[in-house]
Parts: sequence; C-alpha cells; structure tokens
Amino acid sequence: MSKNSPLGGEARERLLSRVDTMRKSGVAAQPVRPAAATGDKRFTDFSTLPGYEELRVQRSIGDKFGLENPYFRMHDARAGATTEIDGRTLINFSCYDYLGLNGHPEVVEAAKTAIDRYGISCSASRIVAGERIAHRELERALAAHYSVDDAVVFVGGYITNVSVISSLAGAKDLVVSDAVVHNSAVVGSVLSGASRRSFVHNDLDNLEQVLAANRGKYERVLIVVEGLYGMDGDFPDLPRLIDIKNRYNAWLMVDEAHALGVLGSRGGGSAEHFGVDPRQVDVWMGTLSKTLSGCGGYIAGSSTLVDYLKCLSGGFVYSVGMPPLIAASATKSLEIMHREPERVATLHRNAAHFRKVAKEKGLDIGSSVGTAVSPVVVGDSISAVILSQQLFKRGINVQPVLYPAVPAKSSRLRFFLTAMHTEAQIDTAIEALVEERANIPESMRSMKIPGYA
Ligand SMILES: Cc1ncc(COP(=O)(O)O)c(C=O)c1O
Repeated sequence: MSKNSPLGGEARERLLSRVDTMRKSGVAAQPVRPAAATGDKRFTDFSTLPGYEELRVQRSIGDKFGLENPYFRMHDARAGATTEIDGRTLINFSCYDYLGLNGHPEVVEAAKTAIDRYGISCSASRIVAGERIAHRELERALAAHYSVDDAVVFVGGYITNVSVISSLAGAKDLVVSDAVVHNSAVVGSVLSGASRRSFVHNDLDNLEQVLAANRGKYERVLIVVEGLYGMDGDFPDLPRLIDIKNRYNAWLMVDEAHALGVLGSRGGGSAEHFGVDPRQVDVWMGTLSKTLSGCGGYIAGSSTLVDYLKCLSGGFVYSVGMPPLIAASATKSLEIMHREPERVATLHRNAAHFRKVAKEKGLDIGSSVGTAVSPVVVGDSISAVILSQQLFKRGINVQPVLYPAVPAKSSRLRFFLTAMHTEAQIDTAIEALVEERANIPESMRSMKIPGYA
C-alpha cells in the first residue's frame, strides 16, 4: 500500500477507532492485562500487530500469484516524465513534479546557495534556533500568492494537517470533512477531540444537511476539503463552499496539495480556477512536495491565524524548522511557476489529452476531470497489481492504488501527469494498458482472494 495514500473504507475506520481509543483512555493509563505481565510474546512481538498480520497474508498471496511488490521501487536518478530503474528507462507516471521543477537549474542553484550559507539544518525549532531569511521569503511569497496577510511553513505536509486541524478545533467544536480527504486531515480531526462528521464526496447538498442538523450544537465548525482530490482527480465547487461556510458561520480549510500549479491557467489553484477572492477561504493549506518540488507544508491566511499557529501549533513549535535549502528552492519553484505559465498550459493540454484518449478507448476514469491526477479505475485489486506489473515490463511505471486506500472494487492505476510528458508517451501508456487489460481473464477478475478486494 502506498505510504502516502489516504486510507479509506474499513482501514480508515479501524485507524480512527484506534486513535479515538488512545486519546480517550490515554495509552499509558491502560491497565496491563495479566497475559502481558507474564511475558506473553503476543504483546511484545511487533509481528503480532493486527495490521501486520494482514500485510503478511496479502504478501504471501501476492507471491503465490507471482505478483511483484509495485511499491518502494529503486530509482537510479531524478524521476520525471521518464525514470531509470534497474538500468532501464521507463515512462514515469508516478511523481508529483507536476510542472517539472524538480532539478530545474535555478531551483538547484537556490538550494546550493542556501547550503553554502546555512548548511543543511536549522538544528532546532525556529522558536529556539531562530529564523533564516529563507523561511520568511517563502512565507511572504506564499502569502502574496493567496493575497492574504501571512503564511507559515511546517517541515511536512502531513504534519501540517495533523497539527493545524488539531490546534484549531477542540472538544466543543465540530470538524466536517469530505469523505475522501487525506488521511492527515482525518488524523488531525481525531486528535483535535472535536466531534466529527463527513459528507458524501463532493456532495455539497449533503454537507448542507450535515450542517443544518448539527451547526447549533457546537461553538466552532471547521469544514475541510481538498482543492483537487489526490485519489479521484476531481474538485469541489469552491464558490458554493464559500457561500455555505458563510451561511453556517463556519471556517473553510482547503488543502491545495494537488491544486497548486495544476488548477487555474497560471497554476494559482482553486481560487484562480473559480475566479474567487482567495481571502474568502479561512485556511489555505498546501504542500511543497508536489508542484514546488520540495518537502513540507504551509498554511496561508490571516495574520492572527498565522500568529496563533506559530505559537500554539505543536507541529511548528516543537518541531525543527524547515531546512533553509528547501525553503529557498521552494521559493524559486513558486517564482518560476508564476513566471512561466506555459508550463501550466502544457500540463493542462497533457491532462486533457489523457482524458480524451482514455475515454475513447473505453477506460473508466471515474469522476476525474482531466488534471494532473488521472486515475483509471480497474476494479479488483489483483487486476490493478497485474496491470501495473505488465506495464512495468513494457517500460511504463504507474502505481496501483488498492482497497482499502480506495473503496472495494474501485482499485485503480493512478497516472500523475506533468508538463514534461509528451502526447506520444501518454498514447503509448494508454495503448499498452488497453492491451494488457484485455489479457486479464474474467476468472481472475472475479476471484475472491483474502486481503484483495
Ligand atoms: C491532499 C494531501 N494533503 C496532504 C498530503 C501530505 O503531504 P506530504 O506528502 O507533503 O507530507 C498529501 C500527500 O500526498 C495529500 O495528497
């Protein structure tokens, strides 16, 4: 399972109930069961953890069917539209470098200059170790991008969601999120101690129903959505969300991890795509790991919000400052994105081309709308793994996303398209996929195999 994949379905519920239990009872305070006190290895051996048991069953079945693990593949050099694996060059659809800025000479130069000046690490939290100008330059650039007062960067995108959501909401509050938001947003909501509700993916009528039934019971309400959904490649109606959050006196948080650089003719993200004033969104969240070809997360919004998070959000206060080389290179990537909108235009053309050809060839693209995130829904997990493996043999690297990361029978190959791909590469991949799909026997598709839905 991809370690970055948002969990869905049962796995997500299991995770939620586990975290809920931990939070309510306090892990350390749990009574020691008698068996644990007698040296019973079931309570000390990591391999007895329930999730690990499942993983082992899944792997042994994979081995039996001759399926290679499609994850953790070793790339020999920088991965872009193509990549080198085991000495072979493959067409690559498995990286988030949407505008091809990872390794751009100016970005590399910015990183090198920052290394020469600061070394690698800040070596402590920014509160303790102090600021580097690279942090503030990036934060100012992000704030300007969203036309808001200020921004703050965290060392990880995942920790940004976890820490920020759990800092903003509390026991008297409600977090309402789209049913498929990223795992980091789910975990942040659970840790907040707030009540939680989800609404049917992209169904804003359902969001309104949830709010109408619940708004009066809580103090603060935080609505959490993604600007572009990382599994499905579709997006919510932002103007309507803004209207709803205003009517229900709630905060709106939009995770732009996949939207920055992808939506809008200049890559501005959701606000640009819909032509709305970005100041109408309370909390803009995003990551540096995709279009900005770095690592880390950001929040952009009012100066009060940023001040609050810098002093009270554990993931910022108690964690090391972002390495200055990452901050400096992300600032450069953002600058190039603004300067060269033709990159965004090429990405849009590639994504539209993929969508058109995939549909013509009868592939199921789910609810995706033709962006950098372009899934092809295959159905059962075994078929998705086989297809990924067969395409790999034919020189195409694309990862399967399996149940429970996505609902049962909607396992998929997730194509990440970039501005660096060519139409010929896209055509080659789709053609190979169509051919390999036809080779999978129906008996294999309908087989019931434990651990694979
Ligand atoms: C929507 C969304 N939010 C947050 C994250 C976490 O970001 P990062 O991988 O940069 O930690 C991801 C990761 O893929 C994501 O897809």
